[in-house]
Amino acid sequence: MVLSAIKSSVLIIHGPNLNLLGTREPGVYGDATLAQINDRLAGLADAAGVSLQAFQSNHEGAIVDRIHEAKAAQIGYIVINPAAFTHTSVAIRDALAAVAVPFIEVHLSNVHRREPFRHHSYFSDVAEAVIAGMGPYGYEAALGYALARMNTN
Ligand code: DQA
Repeated sequence: MVLSAIKSSVLIIHGPNLNLLGTREPGVYGDATLAQINDRLAGLADAAGVSLQAFQSNHEGAIVDRIHEAKAAQIGYIVINPAAFTHTSVAIRDALAAVAVPFIEVHLSNVHRREPFRHHSYFSDVAEAVIAGMGPYGYEAALGYALARMNTN
């Protein structure tokens, strides 16, 4: 019997202040905690036989460093909510371009219905896909897409 090839992992990256989900502006971001979101994603990945790594940081450089590690770590897809760095960070955009791992940009809220400064993203034009306004389900949709793509590649 031929063993199936080792599947790549999916890396979920959560940007600044997302560690406060559950209590942070629940009218905008909902009441699910980050741990609940990550647990749900881990279950979905586990059911598909793919490993999942989740990382949250409030620090731009730490996110850049984590993205650099993705290349060696057999990461097939990155799902990233850059949070406020969406609107400011050339450094994180450049890191994603440098490792050339396909990524999906996720926002809990519909940033296009909010303040004008949230309408511009440094990521959307280089992302494989963008999801905004679906709440925590947006992460699940992104992960489902990544898993489907990894199975066919
Ligand atoms: C966010 C939207 C950003 O504008 C904001 O700075 C966040 C979260 C979202 O998930 O809706 O922190 O990325």
